[in-house]
Amino acid sequence: MKERNANASSAEKQAAGIAAADLVKDGMVIGLGTGSTTAFAIAEVGRRVREEGLDVLAVVTSYQAEMLAIEAGVPLTSLAEHPVLDLAIDGADQVDANLNVIKGGGAAHTREKVVAHSAKRFVVVADDSKMSEKLEHFVPVEVLPYARDLVKQQVIELGGTPQIRLASRKDGPVISDNGNVIMDVEFGTIENPAELSQKLSMCVGVVEHGIFLNTDEVYVGRKDGSVEII
Ligand code: 5RP
Repeated sequence: MKERNANASSAEKQAAGIAAADLVKDGMVIGLGTGSTTAFAIAEVGRRVREEGLDVLAVVTSYQAEMLAIEAGVPLTSLAEHPVLDLAIDGADQVDANLNVIKGGGAAHTREKVVAHSAKRFVVVADDSKMSEKLEHFVPVEVLPYARDLVKQQVIELGGTPQIRLASRKDGPVISDNGNVIMDVEFGTIENPAELSQKLSMCVGVVEHGIFLNTDEVYVGRKDGSVEII
């Protein structure tokens, strides 16, 4: 199973996060994703709120994002109050040449997908190690604990190799903010992300999977501090 790239420097992530935060304009209601790259975008939105009086409201995708937004001084709202968002900014575990994305390395992809689909514009922030011609990263799948074995069987029938994500070797499973377990499923190279997305969505007991097909733009942070918009 492919590990997440731990070598990407935070400078690349910071460049991407700060550049995407510049998309946020007065009066917007935005979605804030989860992870170390989005954390830079949250910090920058907060800086603009505090120093420039930026007028924004944000919906968060996880407890992690909520804590970061509160620390940074970003005013929060909810999807119940603002069901349509102007913009959502989020990270990625891998992005292919057609801007299909795999997310869920932080076990937050269910709420992230709800927020991404509530937004008029969905922008992904990533360091360049995340870019790949085709998707070949494992697919995080949030699973109802009661249906764990049933889902395991179904993803094996789809050609996947499932593994319940553990908090550590000694600890129990990772539990999502929604109270579910995460099954990381290796499919090798994913030739048809839309087809696999549909098949995973049809598995009984799957709450949500980490294939995102609705990305509008990707802000890619490079080693030299530049940002390419794809
Ligand atoms: C959380 C995610 C993250 O956005 C993804 O794992 C990327 O994280 P990072 O920016 O720390 O590399 O999908 O569920």
